[in-house]
Amino acid sequence: MEIVQKKQELRKQILQKRNCLFAEDISLKSARIVDYLKQMPILAKAQMIMAYLPFASEVDVAILFPYLWQQGKTVLVPVCDNEKKSVMYACRYQQGDRLQKDHYGIWEPVNKKVVLPVDIDFILVPGVAFDKKYHRLGYGGGYYDLFLSQTRKETQKIGLAYAMQITEELPVRCEDIAMDGVITEDGLL
Ligand SMILES: Nc1ncnc2c1ncn2[C@@H]1O[C@H](COP(=O)(O)OP(=O)(O)O)[C@@H](O)[C@H]1O
Ligand SMILES: [Mg+2]
Repeated sequence: MEIVQKKQELRKQILQKRNCLFAEDISLKSARIVDYLKQMPILAKAQMIMAYLPFASEVDVAILFPYLWQQGKTVLVPVCDNEKKSVMYACRYQQGDRLQKDHYGIWEPVNKKVVLPVDIDFILVPGVAFDKKYHRLGYGGGYYDLFLSQTRKETQKIGLAYAMQITEELPVRCEDIAMDGVITEDGLL
């Protein structure tokens, strides 16, 4: 099978499983993942932190935001370009900022305060699946591959997923950017 087809098949399989999670499973597992994150020294050292506003059954990283704001961190979330495929930006998200849904149904800040990828210290990356070599499978838009290719090489890229999304080995192509670590409810992979 072609890599593109293999990826598509895996996306279907894993999303089907992930979408069966109950709201309580999502909150419990997300709370454990966020507890691990709070213990990471590299997160404590980071100032510009990009995460995301959870879509569907993704790990709910938004419960970490009040903690980050309290610590004086700058929180950024991705905003997809309306026209250009695979293009997204990092925008500031401050407490109380108004949100709206984009054309994918993903929440985004109404007022876009864009920060350059090279200025970001730490990125929490959602995904459909990750493997033990920290490879990532996304929804198929290539948004994170392009975005992460524009960050500094020392920027920490940490994938967030439930243990059920971890596979032995993902099919990858040269443009797929690997993570520096992956955290599930069972801890650091
Ligand atoms: N660095 C990049 N620059 C431009 N387009 C890219 C880049 N990386 C990926 N893409 C586009 O995204 C498409 C999907 O990539 P893929 O890795 O399958 O998706 P995902 O990472 O979301 O699972 C690619 O076929 C390509 O067109
Ligand atoms: Mg990819």
